[in-house]
Amino acid sequence: MNINYDQIDINGPAPEQEPQRQQYFIAKCRNLLQIREKELGRKLTFFDQTFGCQMNFKDSEKLNGILEEIGYVPAESEDADFVYYNTCTVRENANVRVYGRLGTLKTYKKKNPDMVIAMCGCMMQEEEEAQKVRDVYKFVDIVFGTHNIFKLAELLFECLDSKRRVFDVWEKTDLIIEDLPSDRKFSFKAGVNIMFGCNNFCSYCIVPYVRGRERSRKPQDIVAEVEKLAKEGVVEIMLLGQNVNSYGKNLEEPVTFAELLRMVEQVDGIERIRFMTSHPKDLSDELIEVMASSKKICRHLHLPVQSGSSRLLKLMNRKYTKEQYLSLVDKLRAAMPDLAITTDIIVGFPGETEEDFQETLDIVRKAEYDSAFTFIYSKRSGTPAAKMEGQVPDDVVHERFDRLLKVVGEVAKEKNKRLEGRTELVLAEEIDEKDATMITGRLSNNNVVHFKADPSVIGKIVPVVLEEAKGFYYIGRLDTNG
Ligand code: 5AD
Ligand code: SF4
Repeated sequence: MNINYDQIDINGPAPEQEPQRQQYFIAKCRNLLQIREKELGRKLTFFDQTFGCQMNFKDSEKLNGILEEIGYVPAESEDADFVYYNTCTVRENANVRVYGRLGTLKTYKKKNPDMVIAMCGCMMQEEEEAQKVRDVYKFVDIVFGTHNIFKLAELLFECLDSKRRVFDVWEKTDLIIEDLPSDRKFSFKAGVNIMFGCNNFCSYCIVPYVRGRERSRKPQDIVAEVEKLAKEGVVEIMLLGQNVNSYGKNLEEPVTFAELLRMVEQVDGIERIRFMTSHPKDLSDELIEVMASSKKICRHLHLPVQSGSSRLLKLMNRKYTKEQYLSLVDKLRAAMPDLAITTDIIVGFPGETEEDFQETLDIVRKAEYDSAFTFIYSKRSGTPAAKMEGQVPDDVVHERFDRLLKVVGEVAKEKNKRLEGRTELVLAEEIDEKDATMITGRLSNNNVVHFKADPSVIGKIVPVVLEEAKGFYYIGRLDTNG
């Protein structure tokens, strides 16, 4: 996107049409920033603190893209001119962490009166939370939600221009705004939204209330974005949606997720395709076929099970039983023996008995997960589960959680061992955090490997011998004969 903002008439009226309207406000903010930069004799800076899932991280890339177009430069810490918190509310402790950190911002703002503080994301979609920020955290200048992140420049301009606090949270939207800027953390891999929202209403989950109903992007828009990324040097893409298996159902011309994958696969330059998240109830045979016959789709499926107890799965409104889930796993393994399956599990859902929990341990062993994200059930007000009888006492939940972690670890370790000694293709991603002489990369199945190599391999797909399985990761060696 090469927009010449200097050519936009910022003294005229704001266009009604998007994305032109936001481009106009980016130009207006740029103008204000340039004036301030001259007065201060330095660039203005921004910093983001993002909580939660891939969706939120993707949203932050878009917000950062807008801020960079406006002229802000990234800062190393919260001591910056524009700071925003992109919040998560899927579990209670995420909220607690946000409020815990907000306090520190107040001290920075005392030092820097120019500082603008914004809050956005899922927590702000909850009326109570947005109200709390309005009443208690008076130093927060801008509050917006998940449906209008594209409006950041307009909201910022309003705030800078009026010197007042700006609150704009939408209850819902049908809009999908294309062609706005986006920043990317990695040059060689990128996330691409394919749909927004969720229609499933699992009984414990707040996502459908804060992210709204399912909306799919048009396949042409998705393919165009992937083509553009490929031209920029991206080799791996992650297609993002709360429930990718129901992609395309609500489009004017419906398209299945499997069909979308086929289209994306044709883009030259893209070598790896990942996607997240799959709901077991919507995973089609067509998708299994497309995955199995593809050279680009990675051998990894994240397939949240949540519980192994069919009784609890019904109360969770998941729409499958333990047996149905396991037969799906069998089908997947028959089609792709080398597929890694990972999952999400909730412990302590209301009414969970020891027998229910045993079923969960059993499904972990039978499904042979490569890894699992395990969560302690968190009561979210407004969801049906919050009103259910039999909330499980904390000590029982924690004790079960520890037992689950142990079994997940054992199963993963066993799985990992199977690839020991093999040579696999690895996307080299970054310098190892713990040892700067090592590179951290990922196999097609999403496992992590650390191996000695020159940083110049970063962004490339290279053969690595998996010398030692270490539970959730490998220590490897670059295969120079490969
Ligand atoms: N409590 C605990 N975990 C939850 N998740 C969603 N809602 C809750 C909740 N109320 C978990 C699910 C989901 C993952 C993203 O978060 O396992 O798959
Ligand atoms: Fe939440 Fe269920 Fe939708 Fe996932 S599928 S976002 S767990 S409601």
